[in-house]
Amino acid sequence: MTLPRRLLVTGGAGFIGSAFVRRMLERHSDLTITVLDKLTYAGNLANLAPIEDDPRYRFVLGDIADAEVVDSLAAEADAIVSFAAESHVDRSIEEPDAFIRTDVYGTFVLLEAARRHGHARYLQISTDEVYGHVPEGSSLEEDSLKPRSPYSASKAGGDLLVGAYHATYGLPTLLTRASNNYGPYHYPEKVIPLFITNAIDDEPLPLYGDGLQIRDWLYVDDHVDALEAVLVHGEPGETYNIGGGNELTNLELTRTILERMDKPMSLVRSVPDRAGHDRRYSVDCSKLRSLGWSPAHTFDEGLDATIRWYLDHADWWRPLKSGEYLEYYRRQYGDRLAAGTAVE
Ligand code: NAD
Ligand code: TYD
Repeated sequence: MTLPRRLLVTGGAGFIGSAFVRRMLERHSDLTITVLDKLTYAGNLANLAPIEDDPRYRFVLGDIADAEVVDSLAAEADAIVSFAAESHVDRSIEEPDAFIRTDVYGTFVLLEAARRHGHARYLQISTDEVYGHVPEGSSLEEDSLKPRSPYSASKAGGDLLVGAYHATYGLPTLLTRASNNYGPYHYPEKVIPLFITNAIDDEPLPLYGDGLQIRDWLYVDDHVDALEAVLVHGEPGETYNIGGGNELTNLELTRTILERMDKPMSLVRSVPDRAGHDRRYSVDCSKLRSLGWSPAHTFDEGLDATIRWYLDHADWWRPLKSGEYLEYYRRQYGDRLAAGTAVE
């Protein structure tokens, strides 16, 4: 299979979706991409500024749960690549409604459109969080789903619909489950961009609980390359795990960020934990590696590039840390930071 030529990319104004759009247009001259994005607080046209004048790219403001808009765009596409989602665990704990509407119902609307228009591929971007907490070993694609947050449960709902549309209607679906991404253009509510930008301003870094939770860090461009490999070489109906191979505790991660930025550990505050906080995620990526993919960036390279990007792009992230963000920040961290203690 070659890469389908006319892609409908949902959520393309977000962190990973925009990296996919930028990289695919750079790499494939005969590709056209329509981005459908609702521009929620996490969507940002500045993420697509580098390609905004490219005639092969078009932006449509809209909701994946709106069947009319989705249907008209799907009619002009060969494949759907879906990144659109509510994506932040802490927000899902505070207000789950939008997660169910977008991550479950929105996925259903997209699948229906792909089915109606006989698309060559439907690629759903999902997360390792659907496997739930993994005390030891690594999750395989066929492992049962045990999501424990409203975010991961809504993503799991979307995943199950994707499987059902392949089994029932023969839709040529592909499903990927990636580990925690990091890199440029990452909205500063997630831990790495939050900690980097707070450290730049000498603001406290709120570390949840004992800081011994483990995440596997994947550089965003390596994720995008894996998605391309899956689109071209993946088997319809199959699921592929994508991991960076960089499992770190949050405390190790925080220490490394501060060391690389030449900032003191005294910025870190141990704050009350996230409810239902998963201790560890870990995915086995042998299946994807057999398609020829492996991550090209070491964690040290990726983290240094990311820190450098945030240092050089205050014009991108400073405006985001205002308005609704500050209200969210106060709700999420006000009492926590007041109750926080030092970490050494
Ligand atoms: P993000 O929050 O940065 O971007 C999500 C994008 O979707 C935003 O542009 C937003 O405006 C858009 N969107 C939200 N609801 C929409 C709707 N109803 N209709 C149309 N557009 C809508 O998220 P991200 O980090 O780029 O993640 C992209 C996808 O990858 C998500 O599906 C997420 O679950 C998955 N994922 C993320 C990670 C990670 O570490 N960030 C890891 C694995 C998987
Ligand atoms: P996050 O970036 O929210 O990703 P996810 O919850 O999807 O893995 O969080 C990554 C890890 O960092 C997670 O274990 C929670 C922790 N964390 C903190 O300790 N403090 C914070 O302020 C945030 C946002 C996360």
